[in-house]
Amino acid sequence: MEQTKFKWSLRERSQEKTAVLEYFTEQQARRVQRFHSSFPEYQPTPLRALNELARQLGIKNLFVKDEAYRFGLNAFKVLGGSFAIGSYIADELQEDIDKLPYSRLISDEIRKCFGTRTFITTTDGNHGRGVAWTANRLGQRAVVYMPQGSAAERLANIRAEGAVAELTEMNYDETVRYTSNLAQKNGWIIVQDTAWEDYTQIPLWIMQGYMTMALEAYEQMPVKPTHIFLQAGVGSMAGAVQGFFANVYGSACPLTFVVEPDKADCLYQTAAANDGQLHNVTGSLDTIMAGLACGEPNSIAWEILGHCSDGFISCPDYTAAQGMRILGNPLAGDRQIVAGESGAATVGLVTEVLRDQRLEELKQALLLDENSVVLCFNTEGATDKANYRRIVWDGAWGQE
Ligand SMILES: Cc1ncc(COP(=O)(O)O)c(C=O)c1O
Repeated sequence: MEQTKFKWSLRERSQEKTAVLEYFTEQQARRVQRFHSSFPEYQPTPLRALNELARQLGIKNLFVKDEAYRFGLNAFKVLGGSFAIGSYIADELQEDIDKLPYSRLISDEIRKCFGTRTFITTTDGNHGRGVAWTANRLGQRAVVYMPQGSAAERLANIRAEGAVAELTEMNYDETVRYTSNLAQKNGWIIVQDTAWEDYTQIPLWIMQGYMTMALEAYEQMPVKPTHIFLQAGVGSMAGAVQGFFANVYGSACPLTFVVEPDKADCLYQTAAANDGQLHNVTGSLDTIMAGLACGEPNSIAWEILGHCSDGFISCPDYTAAQGMRILGNPLAGDRQIVAGESGAATVGLVTEVLRDQRLEELKQALLLDENSVVLCFNTEGATDKANYRRIVWDGAWGQE
């Protein structure tokens, strides 16, 4: 059979429960959701049932949680940055985050004792926009750096939230080190969505923030899924969602698979090596899935994913492009979903695996069949509209 560019590494679930899971319980998720729902913009994002597409693909159901509707920001990412900034302020003031809803965070009382501080971050777009939006809402300052090749539209959206934002000539991981040095020099607070040695509290809050999305999906699903597919950059989102579902379902957790672009598949490489070390991918990380273009796994996320996930899949760029076209051009009776490159990665993977004969072995490995109830997350809308049109209108990155 013709070779495909997909690679995968399946894992046995670990019998030991990793201690990090205690930060991702349903109770913690409800606390996070209470914080988010105190913002006037808060509304649960829709869960779409794509019944016609599921029928066409030969599975029972396909559900897509559509984060393009999150806080009017077109991506789930603000959930992490806002919870981390809120938790940081609570921590500094020795308050409980439960007692610091949005209305109090913007009050004169809190502004007087916390003052105005600068929050700095690195982003391909979505995380930085969420940090800039939160800082703007709470009367704080944000400074944002973006790796080389970041989309002009994403930079403009961050600046529109009042942040100081610049492009660099470095890749994502190098830019993270650059902003971390700047933060240290200037006494700014770094709000990064990945952990490293001695930097774990804020990334943990960010990961907890993502649980609002998982909790909403859990409550919205009319049936229990058999399969959950999660796209990953550093793995913070996948780790948080996996952690939540591992807690709520225990040993009956649905099969969960992590999906990455082959140009930045650090979690797949880590899983495939299976030697107890994290494995980085270096270079320009040149993938259309800009949000997933991260070469260094988040160690906290790996702790969860390495213990609880059932497999890691590395995909070529055309997977995401196919997902965008399929979601953007629904079968009659299904709702349209406008998905960006990173958002469409998992639906792209599922639809390719079920449509392309060359992927039969992967379909068998994932145990996908007519009884499968699949849950995917469209983590972003069209955050780079020029590229959206190149892909969906002009057919760029067609199937290879
Ligand atoms: C749209 C989108 N989806 C998924 C991810 C992946 O998140 P993580 O880096 O936590 O793995 C990102 C990260 O920026 C993103 O922007």
